Amino acid sequence: MDFRFTEDQLSIQAIARDFAQKRIAPVAAEFDHKGEFPLANIQEMGQLGLMGIEVPTEYGGAGMDSISYVLAMIEIAAADCAHSTIMSVNNTLYCNGLLKFGTHEQKLAYVAPIASGQAIGAFALTEPQSGSDATAMRCRATKQADGSFLINGKKSWITSGPVAKYILLFAMTEPEKGARGITAFIIDTDRAGFGRGKTEPKLGIRASATCEIEFADYHASAAEVIGQEGEGFKIAMGVLDAGRIGIASQAVGLSRAAYEATIVYSQERKAFGQSIGSFQMTQAKIADMKCKLDASHLLTLRAAWAKQQAQEHGGRFSTEAAVAKLTASESAMWITHQAVQIHGGMGYSKEMPLERYFRDAKITEIYEGTSEIQRMVIARNETGLR
Ligand code: CAA
Repeated sequence: MDFRFTEDQLSIQAIARDFAQKRIAPVAAEFDHKGEFPLANIQEMGQLGLMGIEVPTEYGGAGMDSISYVLAMIEIAAADCAHSTIMSVNNTLYCNGLLKFGTHEQKLAYVAPIASGQAIGAFALTEPQSGSDATAMRCRATKQADGSFLINGKKSWITSGPVAKYILLFAMTEPEKGARGITAFIIDTDRAGFGRGKTEPKLGIRASATCEIEFADYHASAAEVIGQEGEGFKIAMGVLDAGRIGIASQAVGLSRAAYEATIVYSQERKAFGQSIGSFQMTQAKIADMKCKLDASHLLTLRAAWAKQQAQEHGGRFSTEAAVAKLTASESAMWITHQAVQIHGGMGYSKEMPLERYFRDAKITEIYEGTSEIQRMVIARNETGLR
């Protein structure tokens, strides 16, 4: 086993770290406070190759591997979780899905502008009445005599929905077939029949924009079907396997930021004549934070390696992705909680970023499959039982 990274991997990590520390970290609190989408930063991230890291250069991306993606995501998330949410959905849920299941023409038309950061992509699976139980969706795509589709219905919790140019949408084409009656479509948000609903006021990742979207007789041509008709659920699940590695990376970056701030504070802050880091109760917390951070980091890299192997040799990496996401997100919640506690009043104050880390950590246990869903995926895959 070789724990060293390649020069290319170290190079994208350095590019992401530099941008994150110089351009994102100084403005993260302000964008969080205003709930404002950081458009200029996201466009610059596109120019740096960060919005389509694994996309081949012929389709506008950086042409790098899954480990590179994880390393870059960790750096962006360490500066601001909201920026990394936008980056993650663009890279994995949108670009990865189209790369894996789209035709060459679809990739040229719909991946290239999104991977290069000229426009933003989104992913629409969840509905007001169906989150974890994704096959219970009601959004309908009805096939017309000429092979095109009329789409009607609502989707909710769409990350980047308010600003996305294209959306990878999942809709029921044959409801009687359940999971096998779902089809994936590419949606152009400038076309008639597409509308945006309420924007979600959120606890955390407030600079990432999230809204409902609505379809009223939206017309999609046969050429806008992604993959085969009826294959949509498997496409969504395969895409989410990759997406979960992005969320695990985000949780690792966030945890690292909270952990590093805590080390500095525990050295500098004095109580009862000593640095608080010299008290055993603080030391125990720091040791457990470090163990959870390292375990999350290594499991996330293992998941990225498994994804790379699956791409080269076939097979799935669902378990590795779920293990990484579950461990890293629950660790992020725990680590940011301890970080706030060690910082005391300063952890609770908006003068420091700890309270933002704490609020941001919670979403990693919810989106792209809750912790409960990750446990279900892991246990089903391990036992073969349902
Ligand atoms: N890859 C490929 N195929 C898969 C798969 C995967 N990872 N997981 C399941 N499948 C296939 C199965 O093999 C099965 O195929 P067959 O019909 O050929 O047998 C089919 O899909 C149906 O599978 P299940 O019977 O296991 O489906 P289920 O209804 O029991 O659901 C689930 C399984 C794991 C609970 C799934 O519904 C799930 O992951 N739910 C969570 C949804 C989720 O993560 N939502 C997040 C929304 S996106 C988001 O958060 C976006 C954002 O903006 C950040």
